[in-house]
Amino acid sequence: MREQWGTRAGFILAAVGSAVGLGNIWRFPATAYENGGGAFFIPYLFALLTAGIPLLIMEFTIGHKYRGSAPLSFSRMNKKAEWIGWWAVFVAFVISTYYSVIIAWAISYSIFSFNQAWGEDTEGFLFSEYLQYTDPGQFGSIVPGVLIPLIVVWAITLGVLFRGVKKGIEIANRIFIPALVIIFLIICIRAVTLPGAAEGLQAFFEPNFEAITSGGVWVAAYGQIFFSLSIAFAIMITYSSYLPKKSDVTNNAFITGFSNSSFELLAGIGVFAALGFMASQAGVPVQEVVAGGVGLAFVVFPQIISEFPALSGLFGFLFFASLVLAGLSSLISISETYVKGFSEKFGISRAKSVAFGGGLAALLSLMYATQGGLNILDAADYFINQFGVALVGLVEVVAIAWFLKQLTPLQQHANGISDIPLGRWWKVCLGVITPIVLGYMMFDLFRQNLMKQFDTDNGNYEGYSDLFIFSSGWMVAGIALVAGIIFSLIRWNKKTQLEELYDEEAK
Ligand code: ALA
Repeated sequence: MREQWGTRAGFILAAVGSAVGLGNIWRFPATAYENGGGAFFIPYLFALLTAGIPLLIMEFTIGHKYRGSAPLSFSRMNKKAEWIGWWAVFVAFVISTYYSVIIAWAISYSIFSFNQAWGEDTEGFLFSEYLQYTDPGQFGSIVPGVLIPLIVVWAITLGVLFRGVKKGIEIANRIFIPALVIIFLIICIRAVTLPGAAEGLQAFFEPNFEAITSGGVWVAAYGQIFFSLSIAFAIMITYSSYLPKKSDVTNNAFITGFSNSSFELLAGIGVFAALGFMASQAGVPVQEVVAGGVGLAFVVFPQIISEFPALSGLFGFLFFASLVLAGLSSLISISETYVKGFSEKFGISRAKSVAFGGGLAALLSLMYATQGGLNILDAADYFINQFGVALVGLVEVVAIAWFLKQLTPLQQHANGISDIPLGRWWKVCLGVITPIVLGYMMFDLFRQNLMKQFDTDNGNYEGYSDLFIFSSGWMVAGIALVAGIIFSLIRWNKKTQLEELYDEEAK
């Protein structure tokens, strides 16, 4: 008997938990600001409605129809497509190895918050004292301050996965997601009532319509939607394979998509209100304090927290705790892709698969806990997102829509179980609009990154050396694809074929 979610709410919370992650809190606000502010909502909504939600519906339907992890579902759809499922699984595997490390940093910082251990120079503290940063290309030794919280992150994640779908993943999300929403609402309410918040929000929402005439802004919108909705990660197929037969997949996809975007908007408001406060304290314009990613969470936010008028320790703790909760619920889903994939392929128990797959990911994550880890993380993150997630997304829609011609059967399956009928728009989005936009995006990305290799004027991503870009970027993204192809050549365990066989009625 296949494992199943206990309730519909349990599934939705888990899907929302997967979608809402570090991408919402630290990636979205700066991405929106840098790509047209208020005007960014036009490409963002376009990407959400033409690619995000249609793909989410497609992945939910695939998982529900074929009742397997991403590789098993693809292989049941068409044996020749199995490698796409494994490719997505290995992309998720790579992401889990560094995503866990960022959560580990957030755990350390939630503790540092109480006495603002970062002092005046938050940048110096992060790089020199906490990460003991060394130049790109060098590993240095493992940093104990990162190692200890990293062990905690993996212990929680693997512990939850070990307990299974209903008793592990569902219960964890039932606790994490409501707690995250409450904590984040408290932070946002406090942030918008700080002096200077209005200027921050003004900077965030002020539309720059000229920006959206640039192709790069549309690429940013699509990239944000893919990462943020956990699409093309193998996650949503795996999660929906645990749905009971009577499940409204279309409605679930709309709820998940809109909840994720609402949280993203909330994060934008909270972050920019806080940035407005910081700018007003320093007497500088908001644009001088804007940052994204590592800089936002671990350099700028500690400064904001230190300047808080009251209860700095508590608000600092709440901010980093929200990163930890959002991150953990996503990491659990990212890791479930290979736990289930390995368990089905080799016919091994969940416990063994957690120990083997999770253990290997945990071991590899130690690489990013070294003094040189930050550089490797930065390059791996960029390359696996562009040439992993986005490329898998493109290959997935093109294969399903054009080669396997599965859109009509999937549409019929979804319509057979959902209230909202999928019309022609769904097929147009997936079969025409998404391949064109993503195809252009990939072409441009390859051109930019490959040209950079040869064009000394432009330089590599972040100015890293060719060797470093090759080993920490291209190779990491390439390994996911090669591992995917190799795994698709291995035979399925007989038990999987017999026990987990989806029944014909579910078609
Ligand atoms: N969807 C997850 C995030 O936004 C991976 O971080």
